[in-house]
Amino acid sequence: MSDESIPENKGIPNFARRAQRGVSSAASSERFLDTREKRIQRRFSIREVCDFLGMSRSVVKEWMDAEDAPTPIFKGRENTLSLHDIMKLRALAASRKPIPGARSRKPTLFWRKPGDPLPVITFSSQKGGVAKSLTAASVAQFSSLYHGLRVGLIDSDAQATLSLYFADTSIDVAGIDTETFTKFMGVPTPGEEPLQHTDEELDAFWQKTPWPGVRLIPGGAPIQEADISMFLMSQGKDPKKRRVYRLLKDTIDRWSAAHPPKTQPEDLRDENGKFLDDKFEAALNETFDLIIIDCAPALTLTQLNSVVAATTLIVPNTLKGFDLSTLGVYLSSLDDYFTFTQSDINPIEFPPLPSYILPTNVEAGNHSDVELVGELYGNDPEVICPVYFQHSAAVANAAKDYLSIYEYDPPKSRKRSADLFKANADAVADAILTRASPNIQPRGFANAFLKEKYEGVIPPWTPEPEEASDTDRDVSDDENDSMKVEV
Ligand SMILES: Nc1ncnc2c1ncn2[C@@H]1O[C@H](COP(=O)(O)OP(=O)(O)O)[C@@H](O)[C@H]1O
Ligand SMILES: [Mg+2]
Repeated sequence: MSDESIPENKGIPNFARRAQRGVSSAASSERFLDTREKRIQRRFSIREVCDFLGMSRSVVKEWMDAEDAPTPIFKGRENTLSLHDIMKLRALAASRKPIPGARSRKPTLFWRKPGDPLPVITFSSQKGGVAKSLTAASVAQFSSLYHGLRVGLIDSDAQATLSLYFADTSIDVAGIDTETFTKFMGVPTPGEEPLQHTDEELDAFWQKTPWPGVRLIPGGAPIQEADISMFLMSQGKDPKKRRVYRLLKDTIDRWSAAHPPKTQPEDLRDENGKFLDDKFEAALNETFDLIIIDCAPALTLTQLNSVVAATTLIVPNTLKGFDLSTLGVYLSSLDDYFTFTQSDINPIEFPPLPSYILPTNVEAGNHSDVELVGELYGNDPEVICPVYFQHSAAVANAAKDYLSIYEYDPPKSRKRSADLFKANADAVADAILTRASPNIQPRGFANAFLKEKYEGVIPPWTPEPEEASDTDRDVSDDENDSMKVEV
């Protein structure tokens, strides 16, 4: 591929060389770069910030008045905050010293504590175009916006769709030499010895994105080559070498052991209550609270690694007849693979968490789609997520530029449909995240969806969160007063 000369026309090899030249120059064309250059300019109104934090306006206003609080920028007709500002606001609130005798506070930062497990959610299915990448991006951004999670993203698709939702121009995406997860997990070029990385080298694979605390191992061409390497690796006599399906899991475990959660919110201030910005910035990249993996539409060895590394598997799929039969084939292959891996003397340990088929692109007016969700749920409520993604015209406009619904700032005429789709994305993410990571507090979005769509036939997904009203003031008035002095 790197050889410059064009072979004389001997059919397909000649085509491959010529065509890839043309396409790779088009790939760096303006629009592609433009999207990444503009990432991320979206700012959020105080009203949106209140929604993300789950706090009333008066509480957020008070936090904004504190000495170290981020300075909003007046834009349009309102004050706005950046993503980084929102994360800092969470940390400021979470790090305040508790007041003896005051009511306990609603948490604002859901960082892992030492010893907490690291959830890994993998999005995988046999079919392309079923919203795997869109859902992966949206769950990751929801986790950051609504819970302040630090998220590790692994794009295990050479097409690098997930990467394009996050990367700015500083990250090499979808290239021939992109440092992908296959290199992270030590897969060499075909026929060579497996790569050995130090803990620091492993950490360097995660590249910073414009989202605070969100780092990415981008997708790219080496992922395809890795399947051949891994097949060759698996041919040895040593049974350890034959376990090529668990390289990613073992690598994440090793990285995770070397980069555990250390900093807690209360460590972010000195003894005088001053907020420690350096410590906060360092803590953003200290570890992850969640890893999200987006797969290519296949069950090859590389993709099997992405499934085996998961603690929760989400299988997005549309529900048309033919798509369901593809889904059946995928699930039976997966079942066969696990029969093989779990019969090993050293089987993979999975935590007892649920995994789900996620219906996507469901046509609201199409009763057979919705009935099918009901039928699958009736057969086994443990395998299908009844909170599904509805088809939306709004998302196509945003997705063209690799913007998730959270980053998309629609023109007025599209505002309503964009808001509806955002509410849908909130519900799906709330449903997935609360089951994948039991430490995360439900926000009630999944429950609201179930109530609206199934009118009580399907029970609430999670216990109802406390009613949000003025009583959601998380501190007593006394404390608010003292806070102004304290912070
Ligand atoms: N709910 C939806 N409504 C309308 N279009 C959607 C929806 N979900 C996904 N799409 C479109 O489908 C396309 C494929 O989505 P993507 O997430 O890249 O799928 P996959 O990763 O499974 O290949 C995207 O361009 C997106 O615009
Ligand atoms: Mg994809």
